[in-house]
Amino acid sequence: QELQMNLEQIEKGGYEHFMLKEIHEQPRAIRDTYRGRLLRDEAIIKMAGVEDNMKKFLNANRIIIVACGTSWHAGLVAEYIFEEFSRIPVEVEYASEFRYRNPVITENDVVIAISQSGETADTLAAIKLAKSKGAFVFGVCNVVGSSIARETHAGAYTHAGPEIGVASTKAFTTQITVLTLIALRLARAKGTMSSSTFRMYLQELELIPQKVEQLLKVDEHVKDIARQYLLSTNCLYLGRGYNFPVALEGALKLKEISYIHAEGYPAAEMKHGPIALIDDRMPVIVIATSKGHYEKVVSNIQEIKSRKGKIIAVVTEGDTAVKEIADHVIEIPDCEEAFSPLLTTIPLQLLSYHIAVMRNCNVDQPRNLAKSVTVE
Ligand code: G6P
Repeated sequence: QELQMNLEQIEKGGYEHFMLKEIHEQPRAIRDTYRGRLLRDEAIIKMAGVEDNMKKFLNANRIIIVACGTSWHAGLVAEYIFEEFSRIPVEVEYASEFRYRNPVITENDVVIAISQSGETADTLAAIKLAKSKGAFVFGVCNVVGSSIARETHAGAYTHAGPEIGVASTKAFTTQITVLTLIALRLARAKGTMSSSTFRMYLQELELIPQKVEQLLKVDEHVKDIARQYLLSTNCLYLGRGYNFPVALEGALKLKEISYIHAEGYPAAEMKHGPIALIDDRMPVIVIATSKGHYEKVVSNIQEIKSRKGKIIAVVTEGDTAVKEIADHVIEIPDCEEAFSPLLTTIPLQLLSYHIAVMRNCNVDQPRNLAKSVTVE
């Protein structure tokens, strides 16, 4: 028993929970994921699984992404990135819906299956269905040699390392990293991005790990904010563009580990429903990065304020307008908007973590949830 406990302490590497350790591992994990693939000096991206199947990708009418849970959110971020960078239409599907829907799918479709564990039953079934219709299926998995890694025609691993906490953290940011690399590679192959823009993005992506490292210093500040909202019963998350999926992921993280009801919404949809919920007891987490539809999001923030909602805003450093209205601001380092999810996600992970700890919840093993869902 004692030996077991000591072993766990060692595995947690001095952190109180696996989740916190894994949040802090993200700079390393993201770096490991692009290492050997992003070659800045040569201005190329090298990914065998993509290179070997380049024709399939270039001839694809569309890309269909299938996944569940947090991996599905990574797929949504990828949708924005693929369409912007590589101009390929993308659809993102819950694997559980896709598999039972008799989807229209042909040999000219590329399916990307995203799964941390590589064992999710619904995702696996979606892959088998897509294969039976002749589609080319590419896997993005974390666990090497997993069922999904074996079942797909080709793939690219995220190199996040083992993720123990049930709530996914580093798997999410490394999935986005892999998918970004693929989108960039295809953009060059298709000629949808100039070589100077491509180089700029390579350079910017390489800077992300150190920005995440810098950003992790907000931990204490986020903890202070968490203390003020730990008794909330509802919470709204808003974001737009690349950060709409981050709002969904932020809400999922809070639900999963703190058992507070939370919803993520595209900021502009607030007026079609959620705004009715806002009163002085409703915390609203708003992602308002400087390059992402900023003015429009600021006016959403004003609308929340005038209904006395409590605003926790994630902004780009140097922001002034939001600071004047929001109850709390969390600053992220400046970056390309397409890469901002890799940063904006971090404080939302920390916020959920601290709220859950303060509510005495079992952070690493939340009730009713499993790390990998191998049954329907
Ligand atoms: C479970 C986990 C989630 C995960 C989802 C998909 O619900 O608790 O954290 O996002 O499965 O898992 P996968 O391994 O396919 O990414």
